Amino acid sequence: MEQSKLVELLNDMSLEEKINQLFQANVSFYDKGSIVTGPVEEQGFTQRTIQEAGSVLSLLGAENIKNVQKEHMEKHPHHIPLVFMADIINGYKTIFPIPLAQGAAFNPEVARIGAEVAAKEVSAAGIHVTFSPMVDLVRDARWGRVMESTGEDTFLNCEYAKAQVMGYQGEDPKAPGRIGACVKHFAAYGAPEAGKDYNNVELSERTLRDDYLPAYEAAIKAGALLVMTSFNTINHVPSTANKWLMRQVLRREMGFNGVLISDWAAIDEIRKHGMCEDRKGAAKLAIEAGTDIDMMTTCYPNYLKELINEGEVDIALLDEAVLRVLELKNKLGLFENPYKDADEEAEKRLLLCKEHRQKAKEVAKETFVLLKNEQMLPLKREEKIAFIGPYIEEKGIIGAWSMFADEKDSVTIREAVENYGANVLFSKGCDTLWAGAEILSMDTYHRNTRTKAEQDAMMEEAVETARKADKVVLCIGEHRTQSGEGGSRGDITIPKHHKKLLKKVAKVNKNVIVVLFNGRPLDIRKIQNMAKAILVVWMPGTEGGNAITEVLYGETSPSGKLPMSFPYTVAQMPMHYDEFRSGRQINPETPDYRFQCKYLDIPNAPLYPFGYGLSYTEFDYSEVKLSADTLTRGGNLTAGVILKNVGEYEGAEAVQLYICDEVGSVVRPVRELKGFQKIWLKPGEEKQVTFTITEEMLKFYDINMEYVAEKGRFTVFIGGDSSTQNQAQFQLV
Ligand code: GLC
Repeated sequence: MEQSKLVELLNDMSLEEKINQLFQANVSFYDKGSIVTGPVEEQGFTQRTIQEAGSVLSLLGAENIKNVQKEHMEKHPHHIPLVFMADIINGYKTIFPIPLAQGAAFNPEVARIGAEVAAKEVSAAGIHVTFSPMVDLVRDARWGRVMESTGEDTFLNCEYAKAQVMGYQGEDPKAPGRIGACVKHFAAYGAPEAGKDYNNVELSERTLRDDYLPAYEAAIKAGALLVMTSFNTINHVPSTANKWLMRQVLRREMGFNGVLISDWAAIDEIRKHGMCEDRKGAAKLAIEAGTDIDMMTTCYPNYLKELINEGEVDIALLDEAVLRVLELKNKLGLFENPYKDADEEAEKRLLLCKEHRQKAKEVAKETFVLLKNEQMLPLKREEKIAFIGPYIEEKGIIGAWSMFADEKDSVTIREAVENYGANVLFSKGCDTLWAGAEILSMDTYHRNTRTKAEQDAMMEEAVETARKADKVVLCIGEHRTQSGEGGSRGDITIPKHHKKLLKKVAKVNKNVIVVLFNGRPLDIRKIQNMAKAILVVWMPGTEGGNAITEVLYGETSPSGKLPMSFPYTVAQMPMHYDEFRSGRQINPETPDYRFQCKYLDIPNAPLYPFGYGLSYTEFDYSEVKLSADTLTRGGNLTAGVILKNVGEYEGAEAVQLYICDEVGSVVRPVRELKGFQKIWLKPGEEKQVTFTITEEMLKFYDINMEYVAEKGRFTVFIGGDSSTQNQAQFQLV
């Protein structure tokens, strides 16, 4: 529809119609069987609110959506179609590895593929918009939602943000098999004080702009149609009511003119934060900040009319919000085709199809991170291997944000290994959840009612099984409900009964390989001391069992690198590799000298650093070569190494480029990731790996908050992780 027609439509709508267009109804309004849930229930709503709603959250299914859309448009005074939205974070029915795992691939293409498959599947199910990518920078493993992020580095997150938007939207989101992307959570939701979900975020404007905002901007520049507000306050102002953040930064500086949707009930939460007296005040603050859609409350439907009639809110604010919602529907082609790709036949053909499963498996294999390997891996078919641990039969390996998928579709390690046909034994040893546990996740209770006698018997059987094997593959880790939204933890170790199983097994068989399932970096010191190999598989998705088996048996070498530091202990949180020197950096000559930036009782360094990951093969780096030792304004220079596969296996290495700005008008990080390339090499092969360094890469917010590159000394590092000392220097003149 022409823009002029949209404006005509807007001008023809009544005040109530306009207001209701900003209301997002929930699936429970349309699912005859269920009751309305969430804050809307207590706030009250009218049938007209629902009848004139602008969008729907979490209603899925081609037939369902077509029926609701048809009825809605017939009854709507201007027959405006609904836009259907849902949380499709790492897949709809075919589940890919959690985003943190995808970040470990150091290959944004895997995220584009995952997003594209998700879009194909969920658009056939009638969905038009996904609340993804989540691009929040994360530096605190206590926070449960690190599993949704691609990690602690700004540059890596920017690359993944762009790839995910392209995967969902392609060149045109109204094209078949494409959906709109909603980048979230704006802004800096990943930096809650003490790692507690929803907590206050305290950041200097410089840190906010240098580190936290770029990935949202990358998604917006890639064309994301929506942005979602974050629950948190930034420096004491809730994002959903934050005029400076939304109107100055998001709209004017980043040039975002799409729809800004609140997070779940976040408009009402402005009141709970204590920034206004009541829901009417919350509605006023939110619309003034430019929040367009009210998710899961009726603050807008119940109070905007009053506010406008009382002259408290300018109707122009309402009009601009409604026009953006109409423009969103227009960009998705809904005025011409309100059903878009909803198609029962396509659902049957696409959901969990062989091609999608294959892609999910290939992506998963690239996400695994090999942290340790003392000649344990790859396994040989003829070796007698005992697969032990709760995760050998666990179907819950699809992560905390896969509520529309069915765990029964997952392939377990046991199913995959039996199918692989090697010389193996199996014994669970214990349950994934500890006995007596009762965990609520997405409205589902997970319980373990095993008796003590049953637990003891299981563990003894596992020990006996371990005795009989050449090697033990011990599959343990965090329960999937221990990460995700509301999943902050103060103790980031694996469940105690898994540690107990590891200890008992390691006592009778020294050749223990731990396959670790996790939604966050964990404190794995105990595992490190008792295992000869550690493979981090995160939450690997529907094809997890097959992917893990093929990597364990060497069909593919692991190539993942840590997108988040694995700390020595949770006490180091928050931590990130791109830290600052302080005036008392530890002097390696006098590491124990008291008066330095360190602890008395634990190390500063993580157990495993950002960017770290082993392969079955070995890679050799030549020294760093620069094309020049000075970089002129507007010019560029190249930095390169020769990478050689000096091992026995084919493998891939994510070659990483870091730059340190040695002196600035404000202090600068010890190094920052500015490039990476994933290089596949056969044994004996070598390849020239070259990066181009430009002035743009060196910019930051200087002492005057100007975004500039300052002349002076720079150090370039190129290596296999963030601790590499392979370096060369240049001057920006
Ligand atoms: C949740 C999450 C957000 C999600 C939204 C809709 O609380 O914070 O990421 O998209 O509500 O489910």
